[in-house]
Amino acid sequence: MSVAGPAGPPRHVVLGVSGGIACYKSCTLARRLTEAGATVDVVLTAAAAEFVRPLTFEALTGRPVLTSLWERGRALAHIHLAKDPDLVIVAPATANVLARAAMGMADDVLTALLLARGDRLILAAPAMNDDMYANPATTANIKTLTQRGWHFVGPEVGALAEGPSERPGRMSEPEAILAAAERLLGGDSPGTRSARSTTSKWSGKRVVVTAGPTREHLDPVRVLTNPSSGRMGYALAEAAQHRGALVALVTGPTELAPPSGLSTTHVETTEEMQRAVQALMTDADALIMSAAPADYRPKTHADKKRPRSAGPLTIELEATPDILGSLKRRKGMVVVGFALETGNGLANARTKMQNKALDFVILNDATEPGAGFEVTTNRVTILGPGGKQVDLPLLPKRDVAERILDVVEEAL
Ligand code: CTP
Repeated sequence: MSVAGPAGPPRHVVLGVSGGIACYKSCTLARRLTEAGATVDVVLTAAAAEFVRPLTFEALTGRPVLTSLWERGRALAHIHLAKDPDLVIVAPATANVLARAAMGMADDVLTALLLARGDRLILAAPAMNDDMYANPATTANIKTLTQRGWHFVGPEVGALAEGPSERPGRMSEPEAILAAAERLLGGDSPGTRSARSTTSKWSGKRVVVTAGPTREHLDPVRVLTNPSSGRMGYALAEAAQHRGALVALVTGPTELAPPSGLSTTHVETTEEMQRAVQALMTDADALIMSAAPADYRPKTHADKKRPRSAGPLTIELEATPDILGSLKRRKGMVVVGFALETGNGLANARTKMQNKALDFVILNDATEPGAGFEVTTNRVTILGPGGKQVDLPLLPKRDVAERILDVVEEAL
């Protein structure tokens, strides 16, 4: 169990609890972390202490609980608890604490700790009413914090405190938060890794994932491309590898470091990507086409840079190969495509699913805030066999990747 350290000393985890009804689940989380061998220091906001008394957490962790910046004898405790631990978990992370953290405020013990934490590991489990979660202010705050390096788990779709209907905003279960913490702290110990790998449907499966844009040259220095960052594809590759799959990543040019432990093929053009994918397809169990290959290329390619002084330029473009459309696939192979749309999304995605013979299509709308290219979050709808449709809330791309794999694994 990695929160206990693969072989070494116990991990030190701070559990920051802000004031939402989900704090009753934070008691279980504190317990699970402690049972897993971690040293757990709990920091409670004043609002959280209205829901659960500090004594509960003291009894569960066997350590004193910090509730205020002004506790006698504990001056600077929030600074030590910001800098020393391996991981700070904020669960629940209310809309209010996310807003204050995004603003860089330090007006209570938890936000002061989070500000002093800087770019060290933070994992937040948001929990709030669905309208608060859908509010663009919250979306922007989560985006800001994600860009600063925060990691998020959840929220889940489920019954909220105010009613039984299924809506996004519910805090992830303690087990899911613990699993996300393990992932961040460097994976499982060898024992738990093999246990997980052999029980996962992805275990030993050969999975090809494509990521990023491709580039088509006009001349040696000018290209046609798109702003795909590659994050969604890299997250899918990492998540599949974590589940025990043998992953081959085919990536166009991105600024991301290749994930360790998996085979990565770098390509530039759509035709190169097509060749690499086709070569890897021969023994693959699944293909996840999350790349955004350039759809057009110049009909002719100049060997020398064309001077600007040559005046206006008209370029004739031709279509690049449709990689999915031209694929020779093995029987039984699962094929997942993406559909990046800017309107009429569901209808277009269904057409692509049919035309490209996809088992699943992941629809995202480039015009939606926080979704599509160049952002660390995404909001997708998964369409699957038999009219299956799963709408996910706005989530960090790694969490979207996990949810996609959860759905796709039914077909493996
Ligand atoms: N794709 C592909 N080959 C291409 C372009 C896209 O295999 N030359 C794949 C993408 O990786 C994605 C799916 O096809 O999985 C849908 O891509 P999208 O850009 O949404 O659709 P297009 O096929 O390009 O069609 P359109 O331009 O009409 O949207």
